[in-house]
Amino acid sequence: MPKLSLNNLGQFKLPEDFLQRRNLDPSADYWLDERDGDLIFHPCRPDAKKIYIEVTTVCNLNCQTCIRHSWADPIAHMKEETFNKILDSIRAFPALDRVVLTSFGEPLTHPRILNMIEKLRELKLSVTIGTNGLLLNEKISRELIRLGVNQVVVSIDGLKPETYAGIRGAQLNEVLENIERLNTLKRQLGVVNPTLGIEFVAMKSNQEELPGLSELSTRLGAVRTVVTNLLPYTREMNADKLYGYEPASPFKISGGPVKPGAWVKWGVTELPRMHYGAEQHCRFVNDYAIVVGWDGGVSPCYALSHSYQYFTVDGVEKQVSRLTFGNVNQASLADIWMSEEFVHYRSEVRAFHFPSCADCDLRDTCDLRAKNEACWGYNPSCADCLWAQDIVRCP
Ligand SMILES: C[S@@+](CC[C@H](N)C(=O)[O-])C[C@H]1O[C@@H](n2cnc3c(N)ncnc32)[C@H](O)[C@@H]1O
Ligand code: SF4
Ligand code: SF4
Ligand code: SF4
Repeated sequence: MPKLSLNNLGQFKLPEDFLQRRNLDPSADYWLDERDGDLIFHPCRPDAKKIYIEVTTVCNLNCQTCIRHSWADPIAHMKEETFNKILDSIRAFPALDRVVLTSFGEPLTHPRILNMIEKLRELKLSVTIGTNGLLLNEKISRELIRLGVNQVVVSIDGLKPETYAGIRGAQLNEVLENIERLNTLKRQLGVVNPTLGIEFVAMKSNQEELPGLSELSTRLGAVRTVVTNLLPYTREMNADKLYGYEPASPFKISGGPVKPGAWVKWGVTELPRMHYGAEQHCRFVNDYAIVVGWDGGVSPCYALSHSYQYFTVDGVEKQVSRLTFGNVNQASLADIWMSEEFVHYRSEVRAFHFPSCADCDLRDTCDLRAKNEACWGYNPSCADCLWAQDIVRCP
């Protein structure tokens, strides 16, 4: 640890090798923060690496599992001017190279989705779309290929037509045909992108079909299969979840060989943790991600990007209120990202400076916990977050 001394003007000089190692511009500004008596310097840097854009909250389906059974947020498309503000702002982040177009709606319902993708691709950004796949017709598939979309992640929560229809109210054969047509078009055009991902929400009612997922991913050429647990937005969903407090082994499914292009590759399967544990790691904050909602509101993650109810790991009903640190229609993304409040919040999350509500004796009756706050005073609380537990995952 280098030793620093204040000079008589109250100034520190940061050692040269420290500035270089941390890639810090000597003229950078810092927020001076305190936590539990420690002093912390946060450099103000536009160092976001990934952006999730909620282009819409409109959807063509009404899945049983969806957050829309538990919220009263507006159902609307992102306006073009809001999207253009994001585009203008993105250029200020030198390390930002990946955009994920999804969230709590169906991105392919947005009438200008292809135009949005085109503008993102002009900035040389890698684009991933998370979709239910039902609107993936030939015209859209050809356009996604032409625009060089990097990955399309399609939700398939059931391998039997009746399971899929029960959850999604749609026909499995339609989504499989759409994927197969996309694959045929890629083969005909001799391209590898968009690669295919599959996302499967595992619950009691479909867990028997999980072992068949590797075979389906291989058949469809999915390079990535993401299995997540259910985030229970209703009491019925809470009864259908598979995880709990008891240590449990991960699902026993593995990746398999796929042939997305000329060569055979090994498709990756990402599995969720199956039980609540001490270790917490926020993939949004630790991956330097930023989430922009349909109205331009900027949040740290999906979990805090809407207001809704859900049930904690021990079944306590919780009300979450949306957390935004600004709106791209009023300020640049970089200014919002480097604002005191957002910088401090990310620091609290990285340190996971929240109490352990899930094993507190007051957990069943605590009013603070019920409104997603906590007794250590820094709110909203991430204490119960199922994403930070890796129990719930996303692309
Ligand atoms: C909310 S959807 C939005 C994108 C698109 N409409 C779709 O369904 O793929 C994003 C992902 O969340 C998953 N999902 C839906 N309800 C969920 C829940 N209760 N818990 C965990 N994941 C869920 C979906 O299956 C999908 O893979
Ligand atoms: S398709 Fe996606 S956004 Fe639409 S209802 Fe289903 S999970 Fe929700
Ligand atoms: S917020 Fe409530 S439940 Fe959480 S640790 Fe504090 S007293 Fe316990
Ligand atoms: S820990 Fe959870 S609630 Fe907190 S920022 Fe990360 S995803 Fe959001």
